[in-house]
Amino acid sequence: MTEHEISVTVNGTLHELKVESRTLLVTALREQLGYTDTNVGCESSRCGACTVQVDGTPIKSCTRLAVQMDGASIETVGALGEEGKLNPLQKSFQETHGLQCGYCTPGMLMTADAFLQTASDPSREEIREALEGNLCRCTGYHNIVDAVELAAERREADQ
Ligand code: FES
Ligand code: FES
Repeated sequence: MTEHEISVTVNGTLHELKVESRTLLVTALREQLGYTDTNVGCESSRCGACTVQVDGTPIKSCTRLAVQMDGASIETVGALGEEGKLNPLQKSFQETHGLQCGYCTPGMLMTADAFLQTASDPSREEIREALEGNLCRCTGYHNIVDAVELAAERREADQ
């Protein structure tokens, strides 16, 4: 079995680790580096529960090999907000009841956060399109769209 040495920065911390050729990014994050805030759902690119940001772009971490991430900067949902203090997007999810069981929420937040970096005044349709790769089996999506819309409105008001 071939092992590769890679270095990645996760939530601002540099890590050096050895990974097998077949190790998925989500597996390295959770099992080797302890970032269990990234959830695993389908492991086949359908649900989006495993979404993280790689160099600012949301990707499903079950679809990438860890070895491909050498030198990358990765953010998991733990990068949002601070200990005991929700960021505006997290707060919007809380206020609009944008989650129930919460299993999809880390992925939803990472996709929505990246989307809001580029879309300042999105329509509900645009929000739905941005989140179409993230599945939620609890909420029916309506409150999630409300949450992202509210976060976008607050960002606009703060600028
Ligand atoms: Fe990665 Fe479902 S676990 S898309
Ligand atoms: Fe349960 Fe989305 S809140 S899957």
